[in-house]
Amino acid sequence: MKAVVIRNGTDRQYVTVADLPVPIPTGRDDVLIRVLSVGLDGTDREIVRDRYGVLPEGAEQMVIGHELLGVIEQAGPESGLTRGELATALVRRPCGDAACAACRHGQQDYCQSGAYTERGIRGADGFLSEYVVEQARYVVPIPAVCAPYGVLVEPQSIVEKVCSQIAIVQQRVKWEPRTALITGSGPLGILTALTCRTMGLDTHVWSRSGDDSVNASLIRRCGAFYHEAKDDGGTALPDTQPPGAEDRHFTSGLQQFAESQDIRPDIIWECSGHTPLAFESIQLLNPNGVLAILGVTSGSRRLHIPCDLLNQEMVLKNKCIIGSVNASRADFVTGIRRLQEMERDFPGLLDSMMTDRLAMAQVPELDFSSVAVKAVVDLAGSARQAYKAGDEPI
Ligand code: BGC
Ligand code: ZN
Repeated sequence: MKAVVIRNGTDRQYVTVADLPVPIPTGRDDVLIRVLSVGLDGTDREIVRDRYGVLPEGAEQMVIGHELLGVIEQAGPESGLTRGELATALVRRPCGDAACAACRHGQQDYCQSGAYTERGIRGADGFLSEYVVEQARYVVPIPAVCAPYGVLVEPQSIVEKVCSQIAIVQQRVKWEPRTALITGSGPLGILTALTCRTMGLDTHVWSRSGDDSVNASLIRRCGAFYHEAKDDGGTALPDTQPPGAEDRHFTSGLQQFAESQDIRPDIIWECSGHTPLAFESIQLLNPNGVLAILGVTSGSRRLHIPCDLLNQEMVLKNKCIIGSVNASRADFVTGIRRLQEMERDFPGLLDSMMTDRLAMAQVPELDFSSVAVKAVVDLAGSARQAYKAGDEPI
């Protein structure tokens, strides 16, 4: 079968299409999944840029891809799953460290040892291949009606994990959030905006994409406000800063913008990976508010920060910062429900978000910076054509 892999080259990793044997289910709870589509995100971009992926121990290559939509072709007798069902799969697998209480209890998205593996990212083959074998405990069935947007379940699970944490933390107070501010308008920022709109929040997205970009129009279509971040010179921090380089003062313009528009968020979602924004956001939050940091960067920037001021903001106004990565099965399940709500409230919007539909053979040449919003790789032609509700698997 065909698969997209990263390999160790002589001086750097590279991406190529490889021929691999079709994996064979062995356990009684294993399932064989025929892959329909795989979404690509910022993590894949980082892997392809040679900054992030970790090959399985002793392996010379790793199949990439962690946003799966597939159809179950064979279901082991103890899998509890059915042939013909659509499905996705969790990304992270627990570490084997007996001291890691989180992994021991199936909460590998909170792994404490750091020795977890992630399919397609860190130490385990991913899903961008024609077939995948997975244990039922990591497989999440998806209703057939979600076929057109089921490939977004994994990225949505990332948003859901934050929602569930906010709900837990805010049990501390009677809280009626009204306003959300999202920094970043990539796929995660857009899914977050949609999520906030399904929750009825006044939603503002602040990002560097142009006012006339596809991202901006998708955001407006769900009733959120889009604000283009004007470059004031402060945002142009390079991704990496060599040791000894001068630290910068943070001024991204976010604060001036929010004050000028009188936006007082109860929740701020940092989805851009532009790390200075997280620190600047603290001052903008309403009392008792939550700042959630989802964006990640492998850069090495440094900033001067007004730490006394931030301390006062945090302590005297009960503010909370949540960092969040990965997601649990429960988050996948709520993600499926939420995507259905989005489709009901904003029909076709999820489909329009997947701007770049590719074939596997195009992935090695893919220039991520040319992707309008989200790239999705369709196997067997297009998943949208290949699977119709009620289809019999081949
Ligand atoms: C994935 C997560 C993963 C994270 C860090 C994200 O792109 O969606 O599942 O935990 O990358 O590797
Ligand atoms: Zn662990």
